[in-house]
Amino acid sequence: MSYPGTEEIVRRAWQIGTVVPGFNIPYLPMMEPVVRALRDCNSFGLIMVARLEWEKFESKSLRAIRDEYEKVKDEKHTRLHLDHVPVIDEDDLRVDFEAIIAEAVELGYKSVMVDGSRLPLEENIACTKKIVKLAHRYGIPVEAELGAVMGHEAGPLPPYEELFASKKGFTSPDEAKRFVEESGCDWLSVAIGNIHGAISAAGKQQKKPEARIDLEHLALLNKAANVPLVLHGGTGIAPDYVQQGIKLGIAKINVATAIRQPYEKLMSESIEAAQEAVYQTMIKLLRYELEIGNSADILLKTNMEGK
Ligand code: 13P
Repeated sequence: MSYPGTEEIVRRAWQIGTVVPGFNIPYLPMMEPVVRALRDCNSFGLIMVARLEWEKFESKSLRAIRDEYEKVKDEKHTRLHLDHVPVIDEDDLRVDFEAIIAEAVELGYKSVMVDGSRLPLEENIACTKKIVKLAHRYGIPVEAELGAVMGHEAGPLPPYEELFASKKGFTSPDEAKRFVEESGCDWLSVAIGNIHGAISAAGKQQKKPEARIDLEHLALLNKAANVPLVLHGGTGIAPDYVQQGIKLGIAKINVATAIRQPYEKLMSESIEAAQEAVYQTMIKLLRYELEIGNSADILLKTNMEGK
């Protein structure tokens, strides 16, 4: 049976008002319960790794994640996605992003993200454009980011309410329009009140502050960008906001902290117990928070031409 590719699946989600979740795998044994939960709920989702997860956690390498994925994958329910490859990373260091993404494409990742969001607009466009050129040669979609989704940097976040009220770092609709047109990216990660869960040693087990979404701002961005939008920092956003966000253009949502913390709590005692905690968290998320039980049937249906 041949299924549609990731670009088509996410585009369908955007068109019909549902969402494709992506789950980060900072520890390799987390992958199996994530895939199992997607299958058991008949949902579709992405298995993701970000550069910081092999640099600062235990996912080892692009190849190690790919090899683990090959063991557990289920093409009706999953695809492999390369999350955040920053041009400038959370520690302010320059990254050889082109080499990493080229390796991922060669290894068989089915979509990639280049994160030039710490760069000025022109440079972000230029870097994204290079990756679009590379990935599209392989028929692979590219996610890019515009605006500041904070949280991964060391040090404290500004108070959340202040950040939300001031719209500091929010993606500008005018810039989004220009960015998508000039870079040719397929999906755009936007900053609309969402924040990443902390990853520093001191912060990574702390409860993530509850975040909201500026829905009016999101509607403007959806119109301006006119491509599927991505919500990073998916942990701890009230489900009502997420549901409304999905209706307003969010077609992919990234979730890391919500499944990482239950795993980390138990991993030193028993990997099996830690995996079970990931599985139970996934089931709750898929069925009751994201409400995407059975999304695989809708999103992977063949012959949907014209939809
Ligand atoms: P959370 O850790 O807040 O779920 O964010 C995940 C994410 O956006 C990864 O790219």
